[in-house]
Amino acid sequence: MKICRTKADIRDTVRLWRLNGERVGVVPTMGFLHEGHLGLVRLARQKGDRVVTTIFVNPTQFGPNEDLATYPRDEARDLALLEAEGVDAVFIPSVEEMYGAGGDTYVEVPGLSDVLQGALRPGHFRGVTTVVTKLFNITTPDFAVFGEKDYQQITVIRRMVRDLDMPLEIVGHPTVREADGLAMSSRNVRLTPEHRAQAVALSRSLASAEALAKSAPSIKDLDAVIREELGKAPAAEVNSVDIRDAETLEDLSGELDRAAVILLAVRFGTVLLIDQRVIVPES
Ligand code: PAF
Repeated sequence: MKICRTKADIRDTVRLWRLNGERVGVVPTMGFLHEGHLGLVRLARQKGDRVVTTIFVNPTQFGPNEDLATYPRDEARDLALLEAEGVDAVFIPSVEEMYGAGGDTYVEVPGLSDVLQGALRPGHFRGVTTVVTKLFNITTPDFAVFGEKDYQQITVIRRMVRDLDMPLEIVGHPTVREADGLAMSSRNVRLTPEHRAQAVALSRSLASAEALAKSAPSIKDLDAVIREELGKAPAAEVNSVDIRDAETLEDLSGELDRAAVILLAVRFGTVLLIDQRVIVPES
């Protein structure tokens, strides 16, 4: 596995592969890898001839009160995990290498970036779309893999790629789940055993909403069924239940008449869990 710390090095590496006609996939990450990331890497392996993983804790997507300084890092462990997955090259630039010269230009997807998480974290998605554009320009992949768990992120990135005619495919990887349905997250280990047992309420409520979607329900009915299921977990504090147009993320009301995404944020003690599911009404 080749470790590239400069843009020039990863560019040259990928250029040679592409000259050989090989299909290159990139998996952008901020490191401190877990099973969810490895799922993205495995999908990239299946779909391409070469896999590049990028590890970069991107300062421009953190707000002034967010945890950039304390963001967890473990480069040696990340590299060992990626090597074991058969990754061909890892791009690990410094902040200086990425943003040293310039840093005045941003890529922004207004609208989609300003709702939901974007409303809570102003500037976050602008930082994401800017660094992802840079990573695409540096690694020149045929495709890039992102997790569908961060639904708003992949939706914003898809829109950017479409609007700017970026010459690559965005591949979504379904949320990786524990045996009981809980979406995998590095936060799950911080749940108490009691909260861990109750946390299955998120995926159960999404399954109930999906079942209800077959009978042309109203958005209100869907919301009610989700909250009823979440209510069965006594420790669950519901932060938000959002039912939005799956593509535009616009708020929906009335009858479910198009593909919608349900986005949940539920707190158990100090741990905030998120989950999502796209539901489609039966025609
Ligand atoms: O999802 C992440 O880890 C980051 O937002 C990404 C896409 C690597 C950009 O920094």
